[in-house]
Amino acid sequence: MQIAIPAERLGGETRVAATPETVKKLVAMGHAVVVETGAGLHAAVLDAAYLEAGATLAASRAGALAQGDIVLTVRPLDEAAVAELKPGAILIGQLAPYQNTTFPALAAKNISAFAMELLPRTTRAQSMDVLSSQNNIAGYKAVLLATHYYPRFMPMLMTAAGTVKPARVLIMGVGVAGLQAIATAKRLGAVVEATDVRASTKEQVESLGGKFIEVPMSAEEKAANDGVYAREMSDDYKQRQAELVAKHARQADIIITTALIPGKKAPILISADIVQAMKPGAVIVDLAAEAGGNCALTVPGEVVRLANGVTIIGQSNLPGQVAADASSLYAKNLLTFLSLMLSKDGFKLDLADDLLAATLVTHAGAVRFGNAGSPAPAAAPAHAVNE
Ligand code: NAI
Repeated sequence: MQIAIPAERLGGETRVAATPETVKKLVAMGHAVVVETGAGLHAAVLDAAYLEAGATLAASRAGALAQGDIVLTVRPLDEAAVAELKPGAILIGQLAPYQNTTFPALAAKNISAFAMELLPRTTRAQSMDVLSSQNNIAGYKAVLLATHYYPRFMPMLMTAAGTVKPARVLIMGVGVAGLQAIATAKRLGAVVEATDVRASTKEQVESLGGKFIEVPMSAEEKAANDGVYAREMSDDYKQRQAELVAKHARQADIIITTALIPGKKAPILISADIVQAMKPGAVIVDLAAEAGGNCALTVPGEVVRLANGVTIIGQSNLPGQVAADASSLYAKNLLTFLSLMLSKDGFKLDLADDLLAATLVTHAGAVRFGNAGSPAPAAAPAHAVNE
């Protein structure tokens, strides 16, 4: 098979969907890889490294896509790129299924497109899970971004000139990003507190040296949030949570919010009143900004400094700010996913495979995503895609 890697164009994307390491493995399996010139530049991969790994280069996107039996991307292709695809090709990437408008055009070209965000959260899928690999990076970078805007030290310091108190960091939402944020803030010497609706996260927070803030929950509420996905909470729960959060937020120097509910707008966890009561110099990093934000005053894509001295960071695509490692992990996720259909013996698309069936959004001339019988939820609103 010919595997094409176009340079990313959407939203200043810096990552790339294949690295010399994954190219080498694909070539060793007997496939050919063509990379658009400059595709890896922002991820610290030069064209020469792809050539050395056994790829060929194409001077334009159209040149690369025209050769691709399989096309690997980080972000969705725009209409113009879809037009350049080889009819019947396979497309694999983070296709933003809830927002993507190109599925009919992909289906019309008989493209089999896989949206990696739809991968089930099962043990077998873990090594292919792009949300995990990228959110882990977002959690790390969120802490570093916060330190950039926070006008004090993170660790406690005892110096001849006086003692500096450690920063108090509050993490809201302890999924993949939240856990990495706790670990990173702890490594920098901060005092860390965290909260989540899923009761099972308490043990994980404590194992990383954080203090768990527990919102009192009924047995039914605990049972409803026992899995890997959070549910939307009742107004009564939200009230209990808001009271507790208000108290801890007033004392916090840095708050990192990561709370997402798949297929729904992100829950507001920090109201404008809470922000107004925070200390001058405090920083909020809202990783849910693209899904509507966990803080009422977040401006998606922007950093805002309020009159009370609080800074709110709503920047998107934090993994793109760690583009080399983000690409390296993402490319490995895709390589593992490809092994479900590619082997030394050739190519086979087995729709009985639950991972392939769950992620396949267009196939055999039809849009599968959102259709009855398709594993993807019908007509669900936006869910942030690592941004
Ligand atoms: P996510 O990105 O969907 O949400 C982030 C966090 O926000 C979650 O922990 C969620 O419980 C929390 N949250 C939602 N609403 C909230 C509210 N109102 N207040 C406070 N917190 C709220 O979650 P993510 O990072 O994708 O991971 C969730 C779980 O899934 C983790 O336990 C992770 O280990 C597991 N997972 C398993 C995978 C696999 O087995 N293949 C792959 C990815 C994740």
